[in-house]
Amino acid sequence: MTDAVWKFKVVPKERFDDEAARLAIRQLQRKPASVVGLATGDTTNGMHRTLAEKIVQEKIDVSCVSVCNLDEAAGLPDDHPARGISRLKRMLYDPIALKPEQIVCFRGQPDDLEAECRAFEAALARRGGIDLQFVGIGLNGHIAFCEPGMPFHAGCCAVELNAGQREEMRRKFQYASLDDVPTRAMTMGIKSIMHASRVVLLAKGSHKAGIVRAALTGPVTPELPASVLQLHPRLTVLLDDEAAAGMAESK
Ligand code: F6R
Repeated sequence: MTDAVWKFKVVPKERFDDEAARLAIRQLQRKPASVVGLATGDTTNGMHRTLAEKIVQEKIDVSCVSVCNLDEAAGLPDDHPARGISRLKRMLYDPIALKPEQIVCFRGQPDDLEAECRAFEAALARRGGIDLQFVGIGLNGHIAFCEPGMPFHAGCCAVELNAGQREEMRRKFQYASLDDVPTRAMTMGIKSIMHASRVVLLAKGSHKAGIVRAALTGPVTPELPASVLQLHPRLTVLLDDEAAAGMAESK
């Protein structure tokens, strides 16, 4: 017996950021003291900027909200531009004037990464857990820094970054050399993500069509971390028409 409620929405790519931002706003309107988890990356940059604009224009009260980010590379100074928190601050947190106490994040250079993860989890628990968690999906099916093979029971934890992840970071953040790219990161685990009351999976672009289809219609396996979302009782999937192309093929 399951009371799972899945919502599935496909929108033209020009409407994707707007629709994603609207999901966050509806949550804040339903529960102004929501805890909202955010992912960083190409999928969500536009959403974060749009969300900031809407919150300001529509005068949405964010004084009671808490936000957290899914993951963070380790070993970078707090204000380093490649840190997820720096990007979120620039695009969303500063424009809507969130106070530091409303933001749950991993510090850049903690002495003990595992202890930092415990502190992160404790900060979320004190706020009552995550109400709405946004996740993106990587081309190998990762969510957050949970790479293929990570057990589903993993909580928030420190991980080693593999060569592929570090190369992608070098390219995205224009590091001069691979030697400068962090080797470790802190991430919410699959268990932490699955404990959120609601999860929104976001994907846009034709390059995501195959992995979206595999994650949502294939077997649930740690080899494809995002496939676990099939088991979440309150999952919303928001895709642009290009990322949804593989779903049509699967019918
Ligand atoms: C980042 C995160 C990652 C990204 C994923 C997709 O916080 O959680 O799982 O969502 O790597 O990245 P983009 O959106 O850049 O394609």
